[in-house]
Amino acid sequence: MKQTKTIALLNQKGGVNKTTAAIILATYLSNRGNKVCFVGADAQLHATGTLLKDEYVEYGLYDLISGAKTFDDVVIHINENLDFIPETLMLSTADILLSQKMGGEMYLAQLFDDLFSDKDYDYIIFDCPPAINKITSGIILYAQYFIIPVSPSKYSQKGLEILLEYLAQVFHISKKEQKKFFRVLKTFHNPDQIASQKISRYLDEKRFNMFQTYISKATEFDTLTFTNDVIIEAKPNHPVAKEYVLLMDEILEWISDNN
Ligand SMILES: Nc1ncnc2c1ncn2[C@@H]1O[C@H](COP(=O)(O)OP(=O)(O)OP(=O)(O)O)[C@@H](O)[C@H]1O
Ligand SMILES: [Mg+2]
Repeated sequence: MKQTKTIALLNQKGGVNKTTAAIILATYLSNRGNKVCFVGADAQLHATGTLLKDEYVEYGLYDLISGAKTFDDVVIHINENLDFIPETLMLSTADILLSQKMGGEMYLAQLFDDLFSDKDYDYIIFDCPPAINKITSGIILYAQYFIIPVSPSKYSQKGLEILLEYLAQVFHISKKEQKKFFRVLKTFHNPDQIASQKISRYLDEKRFNMFQTYISKATEFDTLTFTNDVIIEAKPNHPVAKEYVLLMDEILEWISDNN
C-alpha cells in the first residue's frame, strides 16, 4: 500500500491564506498525477465554494462526524486525481458534536484513520478553520505535516505563538518535533514594508523553520474568488502563481527529506 502524506494548513488567525494555499497545493499535486483528497474542515465553505464552483452540496465532513453518512456517500470526485470531502453549513455545529463525545479530538483522528486507511491517496490535504477547537485538534492528531501561514500582522504572530504553546502543552509536541513537521509560510509578504520586516525579524529570532519562498499580496485574488479560479491554472504566469510553484517544490523536498 502507498504511503499517504497528510498535510494540514493551520493557524488560528483568520485570513492568513490557509484555504488559498491548501487549494493551490491540492490542485498542483493532482495536476501532476498524484491521487489527492482535500478535506474541507472550515464551515466558512470557502474551499467548497471554490472546488465545487458554488454548486450546492448536502453532505460532507459533518455527516461523517455524526455517523449519518459513509465516505462513499459524501466524497466528491472533482476529477480523476482529486477527491473532496466538502464542508456544509452543518459543519459549524460539528465542534459541539465532538465536544459531547469523550475525547472528541481523538474520535475525529480515529475517524480519519478509519476513513483513509484502506484508500490509496498519495496526499490528503486538510484546510483547518481559524480556531483551535476539536476539529483542528483532531487534524493535529492525525496529520503529519503542518504549514502555518503567517501574515505581516501582530495578531498573526500571536496566532503562531498560541498555536505552538498549545502544541507543546496539550499535545506534548516538543520543539524538536515542531521544527521537523511544522513550517511557517510568510504570506502577504513584502520585504520593503515595515510590518513584513518585523515579522521576518521575529521569525528569525525565534528560529522557526520557514519556507524560503514567501507569498506576495496580489489584488487578482479578490477577482479569482468571484470566478472560483485557482491562480496556478487561471494565471500561471502571474508572479504569485510562480511563487506558489516554487513553494510546492520546497514542500515536496521537505516531505521527502522527512521520509
Ligand atoms: N496572495 C494573495 N494576495 C492577496 N489576497 C490574497 C492572496 N491569497 C489569498 N488572498 C485572499 O485573502 C483572503 C483570505 O485568504 P484565505 O481565505 O485563503 O485565508 P484563510 O487563512 O483560509 O482564512 P480563514 O482563516 O478565514 O479561513 C481571501 O479573500 C483570498 O482570496
Ligand atoms: Mg480558510
